[in-house]
Amino acid sequence: MTRKIIIDTDPGQDDAVAILLALASPEDVDVLGITAVAGNVPLPLTERNARIVCELAGRPETKVFAGCDAPMKAKLVTAEHVHGKTGLDGPQLADPTMPLQDQHAVDFIIETLRTEPEGTVTLCPLGPLTNIATAMERAPDIIPCIQEIVLMGGAYFEVGNITPSAEFNIYVDPEAADIVFKSGVPIVVMPLDVTHKALTTAPHVQGFRDMGTEPGRMVAEWTDFFERFDKEKYGSAGAPLHDPCVIAYLIKPALFSGRHVNVEIELDGTFTRGMTVADWWRVSGREANAMFMGDVDADGFFGLLTERIARL
Ligand code: BDR
Ligand code: CA
Repeated sequence: MTRKIIIDTDPGQDDAVAILLALASPEDVDVLGITAVAGNVPLPLTERNARIVCELAGRPETKVFAGCDAPMKAKLVTAEHVHGKTGLDGPQLADPTMPLQDQHAVDFIIETLRTEPEGTVTLCPLGPLTNIATAMERAPDIIPCIQEIVLMGGAYFEVGNITPSAEFNIYVDPEAADIVFKSGVPIVVMPLDVTHKALTTAPHVQGFRDMGTEPGRMVAEWTDFFERFDKEKYGSAGAPLHDPCVIAYLIKPALFSGRHVNVEIELDGTFTRGMTVADWWRVSGREANAMFMGDVDADGFFGLLTERIARL
């Protein structure tokens, strides 16, 4: 069955690949809209990048909305050191010509959840959770309407990437993440524990390049660029494709395995603000509120990604 989704994103090369995967998979996901948020780079760049990716996929009719330009309480932290100045550094990219929607992303999220039948829209956050939490705070009536939230964020065994204890998306807006994890909505989490197993290797990148298509070439160039950071930092074989894990889960959930556990967001820790305190060993007695993934069939994941990107 096709799932109706809203992709909430801060592109980012890996966000871009996630959007391409979704737009290449109409039999699995119907992208009602893409809502941009400040994260990897400031909002004017993330909304621009989202439109570039839609045009690259040959889907300029996709609705792209600009949302919150700063976290709920904290000052914005960005990640140009990973993604480059534009957020999509790597290939040369022309400015998009498709329009940005006038409506604010938060209003679009609220309106969509109020108009679509209850329990039929899944939210897919690939960046800080500011837009989603703002929508929940402004219109609590939408909370029971959400089918599921499948998000990239957090870490347990891998611990942090932006601080020693916190993953970037959660760290940027922990107050927003706290609202989302306390909302009672069914949540599936793709933490670094999973995404650090979805690593591009030279043959994968060559596979994208060999497609002989513009999207294939872009994915190859983006991963080439994005790789340099992780290779240097972790000594890993390639770049983790964090955000595409969210869309791959919607298409083939069996690629992933994890545990339904309690996840709390650390807001006050001196060294641990933004940490996802996942009760992996179920020792807290706190009620489970999220399916926290721990493993991925990496070959199956790259097989799916390659097959779908080749369609574009
Ligand atoms: C997450 O942070 C961003 O840099 C990536 O796009 C991904 O969503 C990984 O920590
Ligand atoms: Ca992202």
